[in-house]
Amino acid sequence: MMDLKLLWILLITSLFFIQGWPQTQGCWEQERVALLQLHSVFDVSDWITEKDSNCCHWDYIECHNISGRVKVLTLPPKWRQGDSSWYLDVSLFFPFEELKSLDLSLNGIKDFIDNKVPLSSAFSNLEILKLSFNDFHDGILSKVKSLPNLKILDLRNNTIESLQHLQEMNLEELDLGGNRLKNNDLTYIKGLSIKSLNIGGNLLQGSIDIGVLNNLTNLKKLDMSYNEIESLQYFNDGERQLKLINLEKLDLSYNLFNNTLLARLGGLSNMKSLNVGNNLIKGSINIIEELDGLINLEELMLDGSHLNNNILQSIGVLNSLKALSLHDCTYPRMV
Ligand SMILES: *[C@@H]1O[C@H](CO)[C@@H](O)[C@H](O)[C@H]1NC(C)=O
Ligand SMILES: *[C@@H]1O[C@H](CO)[C@@H](O)[C@H](O)[C@H]1NC(C)=O
Ligand SMILES: *[C@@H]1O[C@H](CO)[C@@H](O)[C@H](O)[C@H]1NC(C)=O
Ligand SMILES: *[C@@H]1O[C@H](CO)[C@@H](O)[C@H](O)[C@H]1NC(C)=O
Repeated sequence: MMDLKLLWILLITSLFFIQGWPQTQGCWEQERVALLQLHSVFDVSDWITEKDSNCCHWDYIECHNISGRVKVLTLPPKWRQGDSSWYLDVSLFFPFEELKSLDLSLNGIKDFIDNKVPLSSAFSNLEILKLSFNDFHDGILSKVKSLPNLKILDLRNNTIESLQHLQEMNLEELDLGGNRLKNNDLTYIKGLSIKSLNIGGNLLQGSIDIGVLNNLTNLKKLDMSYNEIESLQYFNDGERQLKLINLEKLDLSYNLFNNTLLARLGGLSNMKSLNVGNNLIKGSINIIEELDGLINLEELMLDGSHLNNNILQSIGVLNSLKALSLHDCTYPRMV
């Protein structure tokens, strides 16, 4: 009787042991189970119709090529217009120990539930987190600061109203486009070592302090399009020009800038692509005096401006220029 019981226990534990063992030919059993649990929340019908038991072959999943663990995970959009937003429990992601990239875009999520498993445990190796087109509020910024490896954070089109919870992080890319940020929120971005920043489509207006932007010395890409900005302002002893020596791409289109903007941009010697289209720039532009510092400029967009036709005569000073875009520009008639 005793022997039988012992045998039974041995059998059960060895079964458990085999199940938990990494399968060289397929995905990890506990990760397959966790994916099926995610299916019950996100309704990924393709996962259920898959005949293949190796979840690394399923749609929206990429596995690590040596360990066989899930490395990249995309939960396809489930939110439909009119659905109310909801809370996602991050403990669902705890089994994915090597998860590096997670895309939860377009899912109507309002916030993470992190009281069973903290965010820092559920997403301990996460480098890329895409949360665009959800309903996250300001509090998400204080939650993600606990993720030590996060490099890319996409929060485009959420309902963030303030950056006061943004903490120093080692982010490389931060996308805050399409939120509800105002001018004074830019001061909270100071001190970040980001290379790419999108604050387009927010509530920025009037004048923006050049000193705040010049603080972001590592920036390569800056998008401030679709706001109502009128000017880049400098204070008495401050810098009169943007001095972002690493900046390669600047998008200021769809704002309310007039010609005085150009004099603030002349020092951006590494800039390759400049979009100042659809502002209030008009008449003649003194490219020789104002923009000749842009020695690496390859692409200049002035769409929707009301320019004099002498623009084409002086454009030759921009030696590196490969593309000039003048869609919907109006020119006064030649007399
Ligand atoms: C595994 O992935 C790494 C990085 O993604 C790559 O450099 C390497 O060549 C891959 N190894 C194999 C055996 O495919
Ligand atoms: C994203 O945000 C921008 C700016 O608020 C808005 O114009 C746009 O319609 C939004 N996009 C969607 C798909 O909601
Ligand atoms: C940027 O701002 C931070 C925090 O205010 C400050 O410590 C740093 O010296 C500033 N850097 C530059 C280049 O202005
Ligand atoms: C350009 O815009 C600034 C800021 O709105 C304003 O102070 C200035 O008078 C404008 N200049 C011209 C020539 O319209």
